[in-house]
Amino acid sequence: MVSRVIPVDVFDLVIFGATGDLARRKILPGLYRRFTAGQMPGDSRIIGAARAELTDAAFREQVRAALTEFVTKDRLEESAIEGFLARLLYVPIDATGTSGWSTLQGLMRDRVVRAFYFSVAPSLFGDIAQRLSEHGIANAQSRIVVEKPFGRDLASAKALNAVLARHFAEAQIYRIDHYLGKETVQNLMAVRFANILFEPLWKAEYVDHVQITVAETVGVNGRGAYYDTSGAMRDMVQNHMMQLLCLIAMEPPYHFDPDAVRDEKLKVIRALKPVQPQDIVRGQYGAGGGDPGYVIHAENPASKTESYIALKVGISNWRWQGVPFYLRTGKRLRARTSEIAITFKQPPHAIFDDASGWHENVLVIRLQPNEGMNLMVMIKEPGPGGMRLMQVPLDMSFADALGEVAEDVPDAYERLIMDVIRGNQTLFMRGDEVEAAWAWTDPIIQGWEGRGDRPQAYDPGSSGPEDALMLMHRDGRRWREIRE
Ligand code: BG6
Repeated sequence: MVSRVIPVDVFDLVIFGATGDLARRKILPGLYRRFTAGQMPGDSRIIGAARAELTDAAFREQVRAALTEFVTKDRLEESAIEGFLARLLYVPIDATGTSGWSTLQGLMRDRVVRAFYFSVAPSLFGDIAQRLSEHGIANAQSRIVVEKPFGRDLASAKALNAVLARHFAEAQIYRIDHYLGKETVQNLMAVRFANILFEPLWKAEYVDHVQITVAETVGVNGRGAYYDTSGAMRDMVQNHMMQLLCLIAMEPPYHFDPDAVRDEKLKVIRALKPVQPQDIVRGQYGAGGGDPGYVIHAENPASKTESYIALKVGISNWRWQGVPFYLRTGKRLRARTSEIAITFKQPPHAIFDDASGWHENVLVIRLQPNEGMNLMVMIKEPGPGGMRLMQVPLDMSFADALGEVAEDVPDAYERLIMDVIRGNQTLFMRGDEVEAAWAWTDPIIQGWEGRGDRPQAYDPGSSGPEDALMLMHRDGRRWREIRE
């Protein structure tokens, strides 16, 4: 089986901030891979725009260096690199001034998709949007792509939405949350809505609780200055984890259609209960294992920013009444692993005398690494000696089940950029969704800031702060082990 490449229309993609880190690491290598997969049709072009005074040739050399660094060797082939670089142009531009804009305007072509990637600080969104429309560079069919962080609270997110709305319709705005571009995250929807097996059990009557874990081994090295103004709640929970929670908790949309899906996610976010202080554990990693510790990277010895957070979250609706969702994410933890575990309730009546080996059914969806699904079920312990029970995994690794196709899937950025070109907004956050997520997040952050709470220290390479264990123990439950 070979993965299918769906054709897209000829496009011009302008990347603002084309010399920046995200463009080098993700956007340009991703586009190169789509080019080699045959998804950059005809004379589609990528136009880099940034402050630096570069020629096309100098920009191409920078991109060549980025490809060498961030594309795996087996995909790097000189003729492909040359072919890709030939599609690149560069325009030096002053985002807040006048220079460069008429040159960019002169490059625009009719009858091709025009997309503009704002890979710049949000403070520049307004300036760029305004100049794109003033100079007639963007037209009614153009699309713009914006990155997180989309605001740092409700007020700033509303202000950003308002700035963009002055020049673009909602249907033209693509707010990226790269978790939605991950293959396994989309698979959550396929598992839930393309099988009859799970949906009947997917509710408070049968689900005991849900755990969502996004554990990272990396620290905040190199991005301490940004991270210290953000913390795990803003950096991961308000966006990526919220999206995972929505995909698990939402009602079936009537169709796999951008607004139908986003309407259902929005309803979940609006139904999230306020989180009480006792249901929040924040942590900050200390020094150890060769790491000088969070505060050194953040260059802020008095920092109260969390590099770890665990939360117990409730959803106030019919389906999830009384079912806790435990969320945790952190940096410098024991292993890199992202998973969702749905633990089901006991059968209503025990017919076996010896229930000592009994465990709950758990459906584990592993998002990364080793993508796959694992369903823990009860069977009879083999052999004589009566009816004793034991738990075994029905384990499916996508790599094993799908072979080459699983290796060949586009990464999140590749997929999302191609969705922009296709004009499909399903995997992008709508303005009201982002605002609703901040409306839930704001009081939580204001709460700990108001109380002056300090995060609890944890050791690098551990499972996080001790108190996080208590968050579940006091409910008679346990976190799953953090391991790859
Ligand atoms: C980013 C966060 O959005 O997601 C980072 O800003 C985090 O702090 C990253 O490390 C995690 O993404 P992934 O794809 O590596 O799980």
